[in-house]
Amino acid sequence: MRAIQLTAVNQLEVRDVPDPVPAAGEVVVKISAAALNHRDVWIKLGQYAGLKFPCIPGSDGVGEVVEAGAELEPGEWVGRRVIINPSFGWGLSEAAQGADFSILGLPRNGTLAEKIAVPVEQLSLAPAHLSDEEAAALPLAGLTAWRAVMTRAQVKGGERVLIGGIGGGTALFALQFAVAAGAEVWVTSSSAEKIARARALGARGGFDYTRPGWAEAAAKEVAEEAGGLFDVIIDSAGGPGFEALIDLAAPGGRIAFFGATRGNPPVLPMRKVFWRQLSLLGTTMGSPADWAAMLATVTRQQIHPVVSEVFPFERAAEAFALMERGGQFGKIVMKP
Ligand SMILES: NC(=O)c1ccc[n+]([C@@H]2O[C@H](COP(=O)([O-])OP(=O)(O)OC[C@H]3O[C@@H](n4cnc5c(N)ncnc54)[C@H](OP(=O)(O)O)[C@@H]3O)[C@@H](O)[C@H]2O)c1
Repeated sequence: MRAIQLTAVNQLEVRDVPDPVPAAGEVVVKISAAALNHRDVWIKLGQYAGLKFPCIPGSDGVGEVVEAGAELEPGEWVGRRVIINPSFGWGLSEAAQGADFSILGLPRNGTLAEKIAVPVEQLSLAPAHLSDEEAAALPLAGLTAWRAVMTRAQVKGGERVLIGGIGGGTALFALQFAVAAGAEVWVTSSSAEKIARARALGARGGFDYTRPGWAEAAAKEVAEEAGGLFDVIIDSAGGPGFEALIDLAAPGGRIAFFGATRGNPPVLPMRKVFWRQLSLLGTTMGSPADWAAMLATVTRQQIHPVVSEVFPFERAAEAFALMERGGQFGKIVMKP
């Protein structure tokens, strides 16, 4: 089969590799669409724990089951259109993943391939209202955003929410889930056009985080226009900009974060955090219960993931470059 392989840091190749062989309890899924996450960029750049080469990256995939391994009834699986939960071995606690946790697409070969073997417990029927491209966009980013917004930050109707870097795949799901929960959502972005597109998806307004003093201006604007600061902030950038988010949180507010695209914050103003009773909520991926709740909401509310662009495998280098420069609005989808 054809697959996108990383053979060394920054060495991306489309290659012929052996077909996967399903172990007992696994099926082979013929991938109809896959998608990129920033994780794949970190792996390509050699900036991810547990790197090994060669590897097939990719955590998101949708496709048809074409073969069932031992201990499975083929009639029960073959022919089904499924999406793959990339959160492997979460464990029994809802509070955090256990020691056996891993993410599809390193160490295990991922979805940027014509076929993949996965345990059946990782499969769900793909929501019928979604195209293959939309369904492929959903898994990792949808799961992470769901847990951040609903499980960890517990966003409620009427709350004011700020979501950073709205062009990002995960941030856009956070917007869709917070809007679906009835929250008043504001966004940040480096692009006025992306803020305008976020408004079309239900955001009330947005701020350009590249402008000096943007956070002070944002605090003034929401205080005047909406009557207060943010009950919940969802962040994946971290870095020097994180300090400003603490100033933007309302007393008693929650800041949920799952990424550090801009690195660690150089300072953490602890006195502001404790005096204003803020909760800093770290979150990563999601449990099987988060996955089921996310899929149920996407189906019930007929939410359509935002697909930025679709690339054939042969144009993988372009697709990765688009994500590396932050040019996307939503998910970058790859088709074999
Ligand atoms: N822990 C987990 O489970 C988990 C899961 C998913 C993602 N992540 C992490 O979360 C981050 C985002 O992942 P993704 O896949 O959604 O990435 P992505 O689709 O590549 O989005 C990245 C976005 O980050 C925004 N950004 C860049 N610099 C920023 C800054 N200084 N302030 C605010 N936003 C900024 C940009 O938004 P604009 O284009 O709007 O400017 C960009 O589009 C990555 O660091 C990733 O590793 C972690």
